[in-house]
Amino acid sequence: MLRRVNFYSICFAFGLSVLLILAGSRYTDNTNYRPSSESRRNIRNYLKIEDGEDNILQSVQTLPTSSYDGTPNIESLLEKTRTKIKFELWNYNFSNSGVHKLEDLLMESGGQPVRSVIISTWRSGTTFLGEVLNAMPGNFYHYEPLLKFGIIQIRGPPYADRAMSTIKNMLKCDYEGMEDYFEYGRTHLHQFSHNTRLWDHCKYKKDLCVDSDFTAKLCKLFPFQSMKVVRFRLRLIKELIEDKELNVKVVLLIRDPRGVMQSRQHRNFCKPSPDCWKPELLCADMISDYVAAGRLLSQYPDRLMVLRYEELALNPNTTTQLLLKFLRLGPTQSVDEFLHSHTNVEVAGVSSTYRVSREVPFRWKNVLDFNYVDEIQMACKEAMELWGYRAAHNASHMAAKDFHPLVPYTITQ
Ligand SMILES: *[C@@H]1O[C@H](CO)[C@@H](O)[C@H](O)[C@H]1NC(C)=O
Ligand SMILES: *[C@@H]1O[C@H](CO)[C@@H](O)[C@H](O)[C@H]1NC(C)=O
Ligand SMILES: *[C@@H]1O[C@H](CO)[C@@H](O)[C@H](O)[C@H]1NC(C)=O
Repeated sequence: MLRRVNFYSICFAFGLSVLLILAGSRYTDNTNYRPSSESRRNIRNYLKIEDGEDNILQSVQTLPTSSYDGTPNIESLLEKTRTKIKFELWNYNFSNSGVHKLEDLLMESGGQPVRSVIISTWRSGTTFLGEVLNAMPGNFYHYEPLLKFGIIQIRGPPYADRAMSTIKNMLKCDYEGMEDYFEYGRTHLHQFSHNTRLWDHCKYKKDLCVDSDFTAKLCKLFPFQSMKVVRFRLRLIKELIEDKELNVKVVLLIRDPRGVMQSRQHRNFCKPSPDCWKPELLCADMISDYVAAGRLLSQYPDRLMVLRYEELALNPNTTTQLLLKFLRLGPTQSVDEFLHSHTNVEVAGVSSTYRVSREVPFRWKNVLDFNYVDEIQMACKEAMELWGYRAAHNASHMAAKDFHPLVPYTITQ
């Protein structure tokens, strides 16, 4: 029965897509509209847990030169996007998201989208998690709004207010007064490219990427809005949660500091910055996040979900289902397909098998020098106890197969 329903939905989807392609080809505005062009990005990126910072100290990316020399027809771009979103969500059960129909989630029709923010730090698996959520059809991915602040953690003044208003503006699709955001993006395109639904439109037309008016209009078409932030601590998030208009849900993503530090070793951007390079600062933030999580959970239990990266990597499917439920996102085929292709099986065109598997989060056990691990463990004793990460006693203990660093933890409120 299920199979049959599936078969019919595929036929229907196929028919619709042919229609859509035909309709699309009638537009003569040369908009390079390619719906699925970003869906097959190199999966190795996910497994390396990119946080997108690689370009900061390396070659500065510049905007692509475009052979296109006309004026983009904005209205037609927006109209196509509307059609595409409707098409992709024709099958979606909106009562999962607490509403009756698509329009209830669209800002341009006076609705409020389902908004989520991932709070974490560099090299903690946020890229993978961010891409899982971005696999939702109709999702607009606000990628790292605070890139321009550099490699720092924002814990309070002097940057907290500016950072908070940037986050809020973007979640409200309000890009006014955000010149420095766009200015930064001009030379750091990854600020835009992770937002695949924006990038589809602007990768060939540089001006669109940095056009606040276009970005705002496009943003308002999307029923789901996700964001990830790696340089803003959880204690500052209360203000965001209390913004009634936004009704945002927050996911705190934590990772074993030994895994984090191992992963950061290979990042040029990290070493010059104490916030990124010193385990004691990482772990002080983990303690602060723990305390903030306890407070927020007691005050707003349905607004915060805490995840450890290791749990996500060990059980990607189960963890994702819990996460989607928390965020009020219904099941979709595209998220299933994403998990399927990025967590256990062969992907078209790639011969090897890549897994976000049991080994990935624990690679540090085999590659880090015990002296360094010991240094981290001493700086991180309290943070590791709070978050359920067990210390290794010596080099052989650390590398042993039966040493499981992950233990249960509870958040005291
Ligand atoms: C949609 O979801 C709601 C709640 O999640 C459920 O009660 C309802 O039966 C679903 N409707 C359809 C058509 O699947
Ligand atoms: C993931 O979990 C969902 C719900 O529990 C289930 O329907 C689905 O088959 C699972 N997918 C895989 C690949 O295990
Ligand atoms: C390493 O630690 C384990 C576990 O505590 C212990 O059993 C073992 O004797 C230690 N080995 C050495 C060489 O100290």
